[in-house]
Amino acid sequence: MEEHRESRSSRNSLVFAVNGERFDVSSVDPSTTLLEFLRSHTRFKSVKLSCGEGGCGACLVLLSKYNPELDQVDDFTVSSCLTLLCSVNGCSITTTEGLGNSKAGFHPIHQRFAGFHASQCGFCTPGMCVSLFSALVNAEKRHRPQPPPGFSKLTVSEAEKAIAGNLCRCTGYRSIVDACKSFAADVDMEDLGFNAFWGKQDSKEVKISRLPLWKRNDQICTFPEFLKKENKSAAFLDLERCCWLSPVSIPELQSLLENADNNQYSVKLVVGNTGMGYYKEVEHFDKYIDIRHIPELSFIRRDQTGIEIGATVTISKAIEALKEQDEGDFHSEGVMVFKKIADHMEKIATGSIRNSASVGGNLVMAQRNNFPSDISTILLSVDAVITVMTGHKCEKLMLEEFFRKFSVGC
Ligand SMILES: Cc1cc2nc3c(=O)[nH]c(=O)nc-3n(C[C@H](O)[C@H](O)[C@H](O)COP(=O)(O)OP(=O)(O)OC[C@H]3O[C@@H](n4cnc5c(N)ncnc54)[C@H](O)[C@@H]3O)c2cc1C
Ligand code: FES
Ligand code: FES
Repeated sequence: MEEHRESRSSRNSLVFAVNGERFDVSSVDPSTTLLEFLRSHTRFKSVKLSCGEGGCGACLVLLSKYNPELDQVDDFTVSSCLTLLCSVNGCSITTTEGLGNSKAGFHPIHQRFAGFHASQCGFCTPGMCVSLFSALVNAEKRHRPQPPPGFSKLTVSEAEKAIAGNLCRCTGYRSIVDACKSFAADVDMEDLGFNAFWGKQDSKEVKISRLPLWKRNDQICTFPEFLKKENKSAAFLDLERCCWLSPVSIPELQSLLENADNNQYSVKLVVGNTGMGYYKEVEHFDKYIDIRHIPELSFIRRDQTGIEIGATVTISKAIEALKEQDEGDFHSEGVMVFKKIADHMEKIATGSIRNSASVGGNLVMAQRNNFPSDISTILLSVDAVITVMTGHKCEKLMLEEFFRKFSVGC
């Protein structure tokens, strides 16, 4: 198995950062969620357990991943109630405490949430602040004209969507949406409701000057330098003791599966683990196999004949790729079909689920659990083809054939 790992070094403990602090965990039950760890082993308890199913947003955190080749940080929200702790190795986590607090001073997001009376029950507010922070961080990365001082590159429409995955069951969304929209470059100040910053008669200029200042230049660092350096040196996680395996090639995966078969221990393949939001598997697994590091499963390839999406590609990344197509690559009809698929996929779950949920995981749930999958519905309608690996054999099948041939019980 070693030959597949080439010369890169491995690490036998989990290393990650929470709000810039380094955590090193050498022994953990692989079914432990990030939420359980944050609440029971750190002082960052703003993340809340509410639904535990990925549906409410009370447990949202910002997950940042570093790509050493591109020297680029990818920031996105995930539901910590479903994210497994072992899967955040090498990542950086930001919770609302990382944005600001009573000692270091509150972040303008906190101040505006308070001033617009958007922190209502308070239980859900940390997750909402993180959602807005993620939207602001990502808006700043876009090539857009510089907004006026105090505003971000976020648009009103993006600000409204920012909290689409956060449920509020108390007084309603108006004040929450106002707090979010107050950062948008294209906001109409007259459209913002009752708040503690200004009076009705104040001019637009006065209103702007009273808003807690958002400065783009002193943004919070979402990925600490020390973790970038560690990520460059140690690549693989070898957590045999924790029963968490991270193969980096198909032959390595095959050998792990064979091993499990020969030695009769149970394994669970895992990608985003969002399936647990639907099906609480109470079954115990001896080992978990994280298949996200296998390049053959994480690619997006396109040519004149179509687009091929690896099984571990997240729904968010698949949407991006489908939208990226231009007339140069495909006939206009093809581009239109890709756009329609992307539009439909955008309606699946919430942004934070789509950021970790894989396309392959969704199809496996549909095949194994008769899950009413939107992805299979869309892909069946375009006669999609799927590659299925059984043992050492790979075969290409029409999606419909896959569901028939591998239906549960066969
Ligand atoms: C709150 C919520 C809302 C949702 N809403 C929708 C919706 O509106 N429409 C919709 O279609 N779906 C919806 N989903 C389902 C979601 O799309 C799936 O949970 C997700 O795509 C599964 O991907 P995952 O990477 O998280 O899989 P995991 O949870 O990691 O895995 C799911 C199962 O598939 C197995 N598995 C995963 N990948 C592979 C593979 N490559 N080969 C073999 N086995 C594999 C795992 O062992 C596990 O049994 C929702 C889910 C949640 C939690
Ligand atoms: S607790 Fe509701 S999404 Fe995690
Ligand atoms: S803010 Fe918690 S239910 Fe509305």
